[in-house]
Amino acid sequence: MTAALVRDATGSDAADLLAIHNEAVRTTSAIWDEDEVDLADRAGWLDGRLSAGLPVLVAEVDGRVVGYASYGPWRPRSGYRHTAEDAVYVLAAHHGQGLAARLLDALLDRARRDDLHRMVAMIESGNTVSIGLHERRGFRVVGHLPEVGRKFDRWLDLTMLQLDL
Ligand SMILES: CC(C)(COP(=O)(O)OP(=O)(O)OC[C@H]1O[C@@H](n2cnc3c(N)ncnc32)[C@H](O)[C@@H]1OP(=O)(O)O)[C@@H](O)C(=O)NCCC(=O)NCCS
Repeated sequence: MTAALVRDATGSDAADLLAIHNEAVRTTSAIWDEDEVDLADRAGWLDGRLSAGLPVLVAEVDGRVVGYASYGPWRPRSGYRHTAEDAVYVLAAHHGQGLAARLLDALLDRARRDDLHRMVAMIESGNTVSIGLHERRGFRVVGHLPEVGRKFDRWLDLTMLQLDL
C-alpha cells in the first residue's frame, strides 16, 4: 500500500464518497440516518459544497478515496456564518492509520485560512475515538444532549464540541 495523498475533492470522487457515506450509515452511530443514499445524492452534496467554496478534502490510497473531511454551515441563518460544523469519515478498513488526523488537521488549516471564527463538532457520545481526535486538536466539550437520537434500537446522546479558531 502506498502512502495516502490528502487533496481537494473533485466531482469524480462522488462514487467513492458514496461508499464511505453508506458504510457509515450501515455500520456506525456517527450518522443518525438509517437509509443509504444513491450516487445522485452524494454528487449533489459534493457539488453543493464545492460550488459554495466549502472545502471537501479526501484521503486517497492506491487511487481510491478512503476518507474525507469537510465543513459546512452549522445552522442556516446568516448570523451563524462565522461558525462551521466539521465532519470526518474514514472507511473501516483504513482506520487507525492516521488518516482522520491528517484530514482534520488540513481541514482546520483551511478554516483558519478562510477566517472562520468557531468550528463545532456534534459527535455521538459513545464515539470516544472521534471525541479524542477533536479534543487533541483543541476542541472542548461545551454541551451534552442526552437521548436526542435513536438508531440500532437504542437512544443516542450528542456531545457538542467547539474550537476557537
Ligand atoms: C473517527 C474516525 C474518523 C477516525 O478515523 P481514523 O483514520 O481511524 O483515525 P486516526 O487513525 O487518524 O486516529 C485519530 C486519533 O485517534 C486515535 N485512535 C485511533 N484509533 C483509536 C482507538 N481505537 N482507540 C483510541 N484512540 C484511537 C489515534 O491515535 C489518533 O490520535 P491523534 O488525535 O493523537 O492523532 C473513524 O473511526 C471513522 O470514520 N469512524 C466512523 C465515522 C465517525 O465516527 N466519524 C466522526 C463523526 S464526528
